[in-house]
Amino acid sequence: MTTAIYPGSFDPVTMGHLDIIRRSARIFSHVYVAVAQNPHKKPDFSLEQRRDYLLKVTRDLDNVEVITIDGLLVEAAQKRNARIIIKGLRAMTDFEYEFQMALMNKKLGNDVETLFMATSTKYSFLSSSLVKEVARLGGCIDGLVPEEVREDILAQLRR
Ligand SMILES: Nc1ncnc2c1ncn2[C@@H]1O[C@H](COP(=O)(O)OP(=O)(O)OP(=O)(O)O)[C@@H](O)[C@H]1O
Ligand SMILES: [Mg+2]
Repeated sequence: MTTAIYPGSFDPVTMGHLDIIRRSARIFSHVYVAVAQNPHKKPDFSLEQRRDYLLKVTRDLDNVEVITIDGLLVEAAQKRNARIIIKGLRAMTDFEYEFQMALMNKKLGNDVETLFMATSTKYSFLSSSLVKEVARLGGCIDGLVPEEVREDILAQLRR
């Protein structure tokens, strides 16, 4: 019985995120999807919106729980008995930063391990930033974000 935590800004959730969530839910007994306030990022979607979209798209996954966190990820993990942090890896460009974060988190909480999950090939080009850019320019985001939240995302970005 292992509990894992998958953190991100999810601004907004993409099919790449959902893919990592679904695959993690098959491996771990419980998965917290943690919507984080990243101090380096100014989000386009509010914390509540980001959480609500995730709730909608993970409704069918019984062992997935969406939470919001601020403060240290390691502390949020320890508080919930999550011993695994899941990070998705798309390309080498993700690696350097995530590797540094993994080592720092290990230093902060030796009992919490970071595991990297490779992207599915079909989502390897996908990021929230790119989805937002395409949507704002009037491009089609079908298949890039979960169907249930696509219209809400488009409405918010094209306001
Ligand atoms: N397409 C994807 N495939 C696999 N992992 C992904 C994908 N997109 C994001 N991730 C992973 O999901 C986690 C949360 O990412 P984050 O919220 O930064 O999303 P993002 O798509 O990278 O958004 P942004 O463009 O705002 O950085 C990170 O571990 C990230 O590596
Ligand atoms: Mg990112």
